[in-house]
Amino acid sequence: DDDSRIPTIKSKIRVVPDFPKPGIMFQDITTLLLDPKAFKDTIDLFVERYTGKNISVVAGIEARGFIFGPPIALAIGAKFIPLRKPRKLPGDVISEKYVLEYGTDCLEMHVGAVEPDERALVVDDLIATGGTLCAAMNLLERAGAEVVECACVIEIPDLKGRDRLNGKPLYVLVESH
Ligand code: PRP
Repeated sequence: DDDSRIPTIKSKIRVVPDFPKPGIMFQDITTLLLDPKAFKDTIDLFVERYTGKNISVVAGIEARGFIFGPPIALAIGAKFIPLRKPRKLPGDVISEKYVLEYGTDCLEMHVGAVEPDERALVVDDLIATGGTLCAAMNLLERAGAEVVECACVIEIPDLKGRDRLNGKPLYVLVESH
């Protein structure tokens, strides 16, 4: 994307070497949130892309998908669903495990939050290996929803997470190497 707003957005993301452990270049979006113009531009870019696409549900992934997902949902007139780490949601849930570098993690979604045939957008701050987005899409599809696209602020293209999304389109604003 060559939108003139993107270079500033990229410049506001702080890269922290060796956090939370050696070798990881942590992509810190809290510094983007400190700049109201850059934060608004980030949300607007997604809203411009998804307005008029008949998306009825935005699903945000814990934790930073809870920052970007809700303002997008409100602006496009969709509902918001939190996809949470285990044992956080109080109602009946469906769960999807996914593989991490060491061990596994899990995402959960409330049963009944989405109706069959709803059109869903999945939102997170970042795609690395793609395991998290893959689990999120599986939850929505098990509930009968159609995942229209996944949207992230940042992609680490070297990790090839895009290849794990079963051909589903992924839209990102910024690539980081
Ligand atoms: C980060 C990021 C994504 C996920 C991407 O979350 O916010 O959700 O990793 O990684 P993947 O593409 O390799 O699956 P993290 O695991 O740090 O959890 P948190 O947001 O709860 O801190």
